[in-house]
Amino acid sequence: MNIRNVFMLVVLLISSCVFSNTYNWGKTGHRATGQIAEAHLTKKAKRSIALLLNGQSLALVSTFADEIKSDKQYKRYSPWHYVNFSFGKKYGEEAPSEFGDLVQGIEKCITILKDDKSSINDKQFYLKMLVHFIGDLHQPLHVGRGEDKGGNDIQVQWFRDGSNLHRVWDSNMIDYYGMSYTELSINKDKLSKNQITAIESGNILDWVHESQALAKKVYASANTGEKLGYTYMYYNFPIVRTQLQKGGIRLATILNDIFG
Ligand code: ADE
Ligand code: ZN
Ligand code: ZN
Repeated sequence: MNIRNVFMLVVLLISSCVFSNTYNWGKTGHRATGQIAEAHLTKKAKRSIALLLNGQSLALVSTFADEIKSDKQYKRYSPWHYVNFSFGKKYGEEAPSEFGDLVQGIEKCITILKDDKSSINDKQFYLKMLVHFIGDLHQPLHVGRGEDKGGNDIQVQWFRDGSNLHRVWDSNMIDYYGMSYTELSINKDKLSKNQITAIESGNILDWVHESQALAKKVYASANTGEKLGYTYMYYNFPIVRTQLQKGGIRLATILNDIFG
């Protein structure tokens, strides 16, 4: 390998580290939400979904929407991973993005899945997308501020590494905790029936507003350039765990309504 190729390789490696993982609850978060949802599905929904996905688990398909991102033919789905609107406003009080957003994306997925005339291929595709987007909805900064791209432009330090506030919430905290998605889905909080019912209640927009309220707190939790580590983890990882669990329970509610 000549010096130019070595240089190109180093640039590639560095840029793949910097630009990877920019727009998603990391893989572990999405898989945990999918796995938790499985435990809350009705028998009928479980059977219909297994048939549609050829036996693939919700955890497995939960990362599909990120895997297709680099393929140009799926570019138009990129804005579906998040929704940004002014804090204190309700969704819809400002004109929603003409390019689509998380709310419009979720609604489209549900419409296709409920339509008897949809093809099997479309149903498979939009089910995989839906599993992912309900996860994204529960990452508070996916309902963040447009001007900083949901915290992607707020540079912080994560222990000794450079990061940004969005990535801390997508993946840094989850990765640092060191549990696999299965371990996270087993070690979830024990909830009473009433607590589960409370989580299941409401609709997509209620859950979007709940995430936005959390996003407000997340923005207040760190300053640009701040070094975040153990203390940040201690105060904020419980919120991440709760969001993964809520996402799983609510994903199951939606799927039970469609397939149950
Ligand atoms: N790009 C712009 N806004 C974003 C958000 N809230 N989350 C992820 N990516 C974004
Ligand atoms: Zn996403
Ligand atoms: Zn993200």
